[in-house]
Amino acid sequence: MLLIIPNVLSKEQVELVLREIGDGAYEDGRVSAGDLARDVKKNLQVKRDAAAAQKCAPMILDVLRRNSVFFSIAFPHKINGPIFNRYDVGMTYGLHVDNALMGEPASIRSDVSATLFLSAPETYDGGELILSEHQGERRIKLPQGSMVVYASTNAHRVEPVTRGTRLAAIFWIQSMIREEAKRDVLFDLNHVITALHGKIGHAENMALSSVYHNLLRMWAET
Ligand code: NI
Repeated sequence: MLLIIPNVLSKEQVELVLREIGDGAYEDGRVSAGDLARDVKKNLQVKRDAAAAQKCAPMILDVLRRNSVFFSIAFPHKINGPIFNRYDVGMTYGLHVDNALMGEPASIRSDVSATLFLSAPETYDGGELILSEHQGERRIKLPQGSMVVYASTNAHRVEPVTRGTRLAAIFWIQSMIREEAKRDVLFDLNHVITALHGKIGHAENMALSSVYHNLLRMWAET
């Protein structure tokens, strides 16, 4: 599962966030990395208790919770983040897997990871998010305000930035649907139901919808 959701934030919302975190209080990104990841992580992040983070995080979480595409792929139960991170020239995050349990104390299981791109892609070189998949690697660099959502089981890295600054917000989601394969079934089914809306009869529509909700009932942990 890998999904790109365009325009999660509007242009105005992105600009607001960039203004706020531009001169936010940054700390070494290694404070939030696991033991192994710490060795390969070289970036900066806005302190969670910094004014900029306190102002922007609730706004973004609110927007995210209203995004129906995000809901249809992630089925969020708990969200850890956002963490606002920054890669200046030479900064990078080598290949790693995200911690399975997060929070202090550890109480959020990471099922789904997400990166919300904040910097305009033409303002920096490098900085692609690279996801290792069975088929090979996926290189991801998105427009401002767009987000990539992927299973937290994927190993990934961030290419070194060679020009400019890459700002992004990252999240980890404990999903109501623990297994990736089940989330994918629900996502596909929901997609089909939406696509068929108005093209099939009411009874068929209801039957499909009933399958969707019954699967959700069987699989969702709330
Ligand atoms: Ni990561």
